[in-house]
Amino acid sequence: MLDDLEKLKAGFLSRISSADSLPQLEQARVELLGKKSEIIGLLKGLGKLAPQDRPMAGKAINNLRVAVETALEQKISTISRREMVERLEKETFDITLPGRKAGEGGFHPIGLVMEELIDIFAGLGYMVEEGPEIETDERNFKMLNFPDDHPARDMQDTFWVQNGARLLRTHTSPVQVHAMEKYKPPFAVIAPGRVFRCDSDVTHSPVFHQLEGFHVDKGINFGHLKGSLELFIHRLYGVDTKVRFRPSFFPFTEPSAEMDISCVMCGGKGCRLCKGTGWMEILGAGMIDPNVLSAGGIDPEEWTGFAFGFGIERIAMLKYGIDDIRLLFENDPRFLGQFR
Ligand code: DAH
Repeated sequence: MLDDLEKLKAGFLSRISSADSLPQLEQARVELLGKKSEIIGLLKGLGKLAPQDRPMAGKAINNLRVAVETALEQKISTISRREMVERLEKETFDITLPGRKAGEGGFHPIGLVMEELIDIFAGLGYMVEEGPEIETDERNFKMLNFPDDHPARDMQDTFWVQNGARLLRTHTSPVQVHAMEKYKPPFAVIAPGRVFRCDSDVTHSPVFHQLEGFHVDKGINFGHLKGSLELFIHRLYGVDTKVRFRPSFFPFTEPSAEMDISCVMCGGKGCRLCKGTGWMEILGAGMIDPNVLSAGGIDPEEWTGFAFGFGIERIAMLKYGIDDIRLLFENDPRFLGQFR
C-alpha cells in the first residue's frame, strides 16, 4: 500500500507542477483535495482496514495530503509572484506625462454682482461703507424711525442675540446711521452686505445680501433720487431699460417710493418672469426722514438726503436667470462652475 501511495504522490505532484495558472491550480486543488478526491476516499476507507494497520495507513495518507497541500501552496505563491512581476512590467507608466491640475476656483455669482454694483456706484461718486452684521435695536430700528410696535421687530422676522440686547441686522439701512455718526455731510455712500431674517423658502433665505445707498447734501430732492437711480439702472441693465416710481411706505423715508424697471426678459411686452405686467419691482427708496437725520446728528433744516435699498440676490437671479434662491447658498460646484 505504501508503494501505491508513493506512486499516487508522484502523479499528484506532477499534476500540480503542470498547472500553469491560478485557475488551473484551483481546479487541481479541488480534484486532489476536494470531497470527491482520491485522498478523501482513502481516508474514508481506513475503517475497512484491520485495526492494527489503521495507524500506519492513516499516517501515510495524511503525509500524502500534507505533501499535496505544500506543493499546491508553493506553486500558488510562485505563480502569484510571476503574475505580479508580469503585471508590473506591463503597467510601467510614463512619468513624463503632465499631472492633472486641480480645478480652478471662481467667483460666486453674488460676489460678481456685488463687484459690478460697487463699480457702478463708485463711478457715480459713492464711497463704500460696511457696518456691523450684529446690530443694536437702536440702530436697526429705533434711530430709523421704526415705532416700538412695528411688525418688523417681531420675533418671527428678527434673529435676536444676547437675550434681545443685540440682533442680526435685518437690513443694511442701519449703515445710514453709522455713516451719519462717522462723517459730516455732504456724503454719498453705498453699503453692500449680509442681512438676516427668520425666513426660508424658494425666494427667501435666512441670510441674504442687500445694497443700501444714500446721499446727503444741501438741497437734495426727489429729482436727484430719480435721476441717480435711473442712471444706475441704465448702467446695470442698459439704457433701454425704463424705470417707474410708485408711492410706498418705509419708516425711515418720507416720502417713500418703490421703483420698478421694465422687464429684463421681455423688455416690457409681458412674460412669465414679469407675470405679464412688463414691469419688475426692484428697490425701495425715498427722502431720508428728518427724524433719521436728527437721530444721526444731522440738522434736517440744513441738509436733506435720499436713500434706497435692494436685495442683491434678486439682481443676480434676474441677471443669470436663476429661479431658486437656495442655489446661491448651497455652493454646489456644478452650479458655481458655470460662473467661471
Ligand atoms: N431697508 C429696506 C428693506 O430691507 C429697503 C429700503 C427701502 C432701504 C427704502 C432704503 C429705502 O434705504 O429708502 O426692505
